[in-house]
Amino acid sequence: MGAAGAPADHFADADNLAAVERGKQVYYQHCFSCHGRNLEGQFLWQLQDQFAHRRAPAHDASGHTWMHSDEDLFYMAKYGRFPDVPKNIRSYMPAFEHRLSDSEIVAVLAYIKAHWPTGIRVSQSMLNPHFMGMPKDANKVAWTLPPTCSASYKRWKQISR
Ligand code: HEC
Repeated sequence: MGAAGAPADHFADADNLAAVERGKQVYYQHCFSCHGRNLEGQFLWQLQDQFAHRRAPAHDASGHTWMHSDEDLFYMAKYGRFPDVPKNIRSYMPAFEHRLSDSEIVAVLAYIKAHWPTGIRVSQSMLNPHFMGMPKDANKVAWTLPPTCSASYKRWKQISR
């Protein structure tokens, strides 16, 4: 939401191997220095102090990247802030609009999403229009949210009401 175009314009397809491979290159050129070699985030990123927003959060299942739709993640990577955050609030996430093309941003998001376990991918797909990104095997395999995620998922459900 927020960006121009149809709502599903910036869907990042974690099942598209070519995109994931391209996204991996983008990640190791532009993102890993802050978000971690294994998507684990910056040291002490969970700490809630006055510097909380200066530390890059994890992009793996332990983080909260998956609590946002593809469109919002696209917006965050392109403009350095989520669409609902006012422009005058300083962001420590760099805007990549002049360094990466839209398709490179979509590719790096596909790479990030490809790391998520099925349960997380199911939850995140529900934030996308038409549940885009719902894993094909979602109703065939048994999956549960890992405990840390169930906790943050509950919290997310509370605060997003
Ligand atoms: C200079 C360090 C730095 C680099 C490089 C960087 N980020 Fe970030 N990123 C941050 C910080 C700091 C935040 C947290 C911002 C906040 O909380 O307001 C963030 C937040 C994010 C978020 C939101 C996650 C969430 O759950 O709120 C996304 C998505 C993201 N970055 C994607 C990327 C991508 C994709 C790249 C590479 C193309 C990248 N970042 C490169 C520092 C960085």
